[in-house]
Amino acid sequence: MGTRAFLLLIFLMSAAEVFACVKCHEPHYTEVGTCSACHRGEMRSSRENVAHAGLITAKYSSFYTDKKAVASGEKIVSDSACRRCHAIGAEGGTAAADLNASAMKYTGEYLDDKLKNVNEYMPDFHFNDAERRLVILYLLNAASKQPEKANEPYVAYITPAKKGAFEKHCGGCHRMITRNGGGKGTGIEGANLSGLLTKYFLSSVLPAGEKHWTEKRLREWIKNPRSVNKLAVMPPVRITDTELDKVIKEIK
Ligand code: HEC
Ligand code: HEC
Ligand code: HEC
Ligand code: HEC
Repeated sequence: MGTRAFLLLIFLMSAAEVFACVKCHEPHYTEVGTCSACHRGEMRSSRENVAHAGLITAKYSSFYTDKKAVASGEKIVSDSACRRCHAIGAEGGTAAADLNASAMKYTGEYLDDKLKNVNEYMPDFHFNDAERRLVILYLLNAASKQPEKANEPYVAYITPAKKGAFEKHCGGCHRMITRNGGGKGTGIEGANLSGLLTKYFLSSVLPAGEKHWTEKRLREWIKNPRSVNKLAVMPPVRITDTELDKVIKEIK
């Protein structure tokens, strides 16, 4: 142990219960911050199980020292369009959990489990272990930079909603979750349409030059997908204008 670290250790231990972690561990990264800045935990307790409550383990604690890993995680998140359902950092949708709040509240292992065993309304991205770790480092990093929100309770609507127009006309092939209406549809043939009309949705069928879906385009597509993309697989949906209005309203 260097002299500096040793002096710090003495100081921390004399600061009574404030820093019990160092009773059992040698301090490191002291120039960056206290243990809880990177590991959370309960620094006042010298009982291991209490001190380790909510611990960010070694595997995930480089979320703000390893800038390269964080940047790789950020790229995966943006390529996967997670923000069409989730708020991450300063941006994103509100249909699914605010991942800033999730990252502040849960451990890396919990988040990893959620990326491995995905909710039925969340697409399975089939990330490998290394990719999941990078995503989590980015989520922890992004959350740590967000100002804490006033308590806005998040209500998860993950149970299938009442059958509506979307369920009837689209739900056999698509799924979607909405902020107010919950999960809809059971299909897997077509894309998960959550956040379709937001800038976060990455379309695989829009013509080059059209980055995002608009309501007008969507109406055309539903009536005749091939008018938008000649190679479209989706069959035209036979639907009245009133029903179409209802579908659009549910998607919005
Ligand atoms: C009473 C002793 C004790 C206290 C107090 C304690 N720890 Fe630990 N800690 C241990 C032991 C023993 C291990 C190794 C066994 C294990 O991995 O659970 C460990 C492991 C760890 C690990 C590695 C876990 C992993 O899997 O990456 C981290 C990080 C850690 N502690 C951080 C902390 C922090 C931060 C605090 C203060 C908030 C703290 N510990 C308080 C005893 C303690
Ligand atoms: C700037 C972030 C940061 C701070 C502050 C920090 N750690 Fe760590 N800790 C890490 C990282 C990253 C690792 C993973 C191994 C590594 O890179 O050294 C780690 C690993 C550990 C481990 C696992 C054993 C090991 O060395 O691999 C323990 C135990 C631990 N830290 C305890 C602590 C304690 C106690 C404090 C407070 C005195 C603390 N850490 C402060 C980032 C931090
Ligand atoms: C189509 C919408 C959708 C997309 C896209 C999506 N998710 Fe999710 N995600 C969900 C739903 C639904 C849940 C279940 C909990 C809820 O209702 O928020 C969930 C839960 C999670 C959870 C657990 C949150 C908690 O607090 O328990 C994490 C972590 C997560 N998603 C990460 C991601 C990441 C990372 C991406 C991008 C790679 C992503 N999600 C893309 C819909 C989505
Ligand atoms: C019989 C199955 C089926 C039905 C019913 C269906 N779709 Fe599709 N949809 C698909 C398939 C398959 C695709 C994949 C893209 C393609 O057509 O090449 C798709 C693609 C889409 C896309 C493009 C997503 C992207 O990548 O940009 C949108 C938007 C869409 N559907 C909306 C709807 C809506 C809204 C309804 C209900 C009014 C609906 N679909 C009904 C099968 C279906």
